[in-house]
Amino acid sequence: MQTKIKKIKNIAEQRATIEEAGELIRRGELVAFPTETVYGLGANGFDPKAAAKIYAVKGRPSDNPLILHVSSRAMIDTAAIVNETAEKLLTIFCPGPLTLILPKTQAVPSEVTGNLPTVGIRCPDNSVARALIAAADVPIAAPSANLSGRPSPTTALMTAEDLDGKIPLILDGGATQVGLESTIVDCTSETATILRPGAITREMLAEVLGDVRVDPGLTSSDQAPKAPGMKYRHYAPRAPLTIVTGEASEMGEIFCRRVTELKSAGKTVGVLASRETCAALSGALPAELLFNYGERGNLPQIAANLYAGLSYFDRTAADCLLAESVDAVGLGAAIMNRLGKAAGKN
Ligand code: TXA
Ligand code: MG
Repeated sequence: MQTKIKKIKNIAEQRATIEEAGELIRRGELVAFPTETVYGLGANGFDPKAAAKIYAVKGRPSDNPLILHVSSRAMIDTAAIVNETAEKLLTIFCPGPLTLILPKTQAVPSEVTGNLPTVGIRCPDNSVARALIAAADVPIAAPSANLSGRPSPTTALMTAEDLDGKIPLILDGGATQVGLESTIVDCTSETATILRPGAITREMLAEVLGDVRVDPGLTSSDQAPKAPGMKYRHYAPRAPLTIVTGEASEMGEIFCRRVTELKSAGKTVGVLASRETCAALSGALPAELLFNYGERGNLPQIAANLYAGLSYFDRTAADCLLAESVDAVGLGAAIMNRLGKAAGKN
């Protein structure tokens, strides 16, 4: 299959392309599209055969449910039963990088939800995504547009690396802003529960709801996470990655010491770190083994660059990687969650 990649700069001017994409979705085909978090691989969320194509193309386990993307409040009601908790969150955070788990309606096929009685609903804050959903006039089921086990794509180019030749169309809306997948909140439990940390932080949710839990399965090794997808091994770079923690003021020194040790052990070490740490290492490592993920403490910048940085080293000679940690509060919790998955147990 030939994959067309179409740049969308202006929705009004490129109405014909958006209509074509919406028509493909309605006909049961797959279209990759940008959201504010990461690129999604979309299909008609009410069509079990179209959903099956997503699982086949990604190589995704069939018990890992898809989330439905909507463009209006009316569309949410076709797919889910909105309760009081969800109502509050929708008012404040939608559209935005948030997915709500709610009881599903009959219209949602069990193939989409991995047989669960619940469904994930997300209203993306991206004009291309919203125009596409409105044109398709159905909720769009969309996981991140990567092959299973690869990093979530944050550009059309990263999407094409995984999906070229496998789907008819990729809409190119430029780089995504957030760079990490949406926060998932289970609104079916007594107290709202975060199943996956993201840019809508625990602190932000608590301000609206008062009380918010974090799924204990995210941190405990003897309890399965409630979001089926969080139990699978996520993207990890080819070279083993170790997270380095320490006082910000000593970070440069700590890295210099570790790099020297690893180099004398014959290792080719790659470093994913802040601009400040990379500057401290500039004499110790060649530029191609340093990836500057952003200014220290600038969490939005670091989140936006994280997946590109992790996958960058697969194209270098690095045989071991060091990554600079951030404080695990606010957006830092989501960054450390993804870094932790990339590092495994290191
Ligand atoms: O930002 C995002 O959420 C991106 C963009 C494309 O919107 N999408 C995304 O989808 O990250 P995906 O499929 O890669 O991750 C969805 C996660 C999976 O971990 C899945 O197990 C979980 O949501 N999930 C979906 N439906 C669920 C449900 N009914 N109950 C619990 N977890 C659910
Ligand atoms: Mg994913």
